[in-house]
Amino acid sequence: MRYQDRAVLVTGGGSGIGRQVCLMAAAEGARVAVGDLDLERAETVAAEIGQGKGKGEAQAFRIDVTEPASVNAFVEGAETTLGRLDVLVNSAGIREIVSVLDLSPEEWQRVIAVNLTGTFLPSQAFARRLIAAGKPGQIVNLASTLGIMAAPNRAAYVASKHGVVGLTKEMALELGEKGIRVNAVAPGVIRTPMTERYFQDPEMSATIRGIHAMNRWGEPADIARAILFLGAEENGFMTGSLLTVDGGWTTGKKM
Ligand SMILES: NC(=O)c1ccc[n+]([C@@H]2O[C@H](COP(=O)([O-])OP(=O)(O)OC[C@H]3O[C@@H](n4cnc5c(N)ncnc54)[C@H](O)[C@@H]3O)[C@@H](O)[C@H]2O)c1
Repeated sequence: MRYQDRAVLVTGGGSGIGRQVCLMAAAEGARVAVGDLDLERAETVAAEIGQGKGKGEAQAFRIDVTEPASVNAFVEGAETTLGRLDVLVNSAGIREIVSVLDLSPEEWQRVIAVNLTGTFLPSQAFARRLIAAGKPGQIVNLASTLGIMAAPNRAAYVASKHGVVGLTKEMALELGEKGIRVNAVAPGVIRTPMTERYFQDPEMSATIRGIHAMNRWGEPADIARAILFLGAEENGFMTGSLLTVDGGWTTGKKM
């Protein structure tokens, strides 16, 4: 198994894509640090892993990815509990739905803080500890199709995800010779608690299906599979890449 006894740290691990990464990494034998702002959610995911078929193990952590002290405590705590550090997945994220004209400075700053600063801080803390120990590692960031193109009413989200794409390239460039690979995924619309309200509206559901060439929306496992591919040791020459997993959404416009 690709992840046997490897330590996988996941921010935003209590829900959606992050949760699925935790479950699938554990199913491949990983020791998982499930980090989330909502400790109860993280504990539920860790318990699901604990009740699994004996593969993998998990520990829940409360982490606020916008707070350096909280981030450092998460990475240190994960290393102590799991005994090592191998893969960091930055999945914590939020988004606004408001026009650029009405977006408040506070909301702008919050989205940038969680999505962009909240990718930088855990990555820096993780890389520093790996380098201090002389160990290789992998970082996988959650960008988005909205890290490549725009969509209405999401100025802070779009800016933050474009920032994540740039940060991924920058970190890949600076950390490559230290044996740390940094890649990102760009998911299409994935059905998770973040997007669930779209699916309560039949017209919106049909629109979402229609924008994807595959004529369906994505499920968390579609993205978790790609994340685990990027984080796998065997995938040793891929860094600075943005892997689009969007059912063909950004391939072109359906006429
Ligand atoms: N769902 C989609 O369609 C989609 C598409 C493209 C990209 N993404 C990205 O994938 C990632 C995961 O999205 P999801 O759909 O699974 O969302 P989700 O809302 O289901 O899960 C996000 C998790 O992040 C946690 N979180 C929020 N703020 C935090 C903070 N400050 N510190 C720590 N944890 C925090 C939340 O508590 C939640 O558990 C996000 O970065 C999102 O932008 C999602």
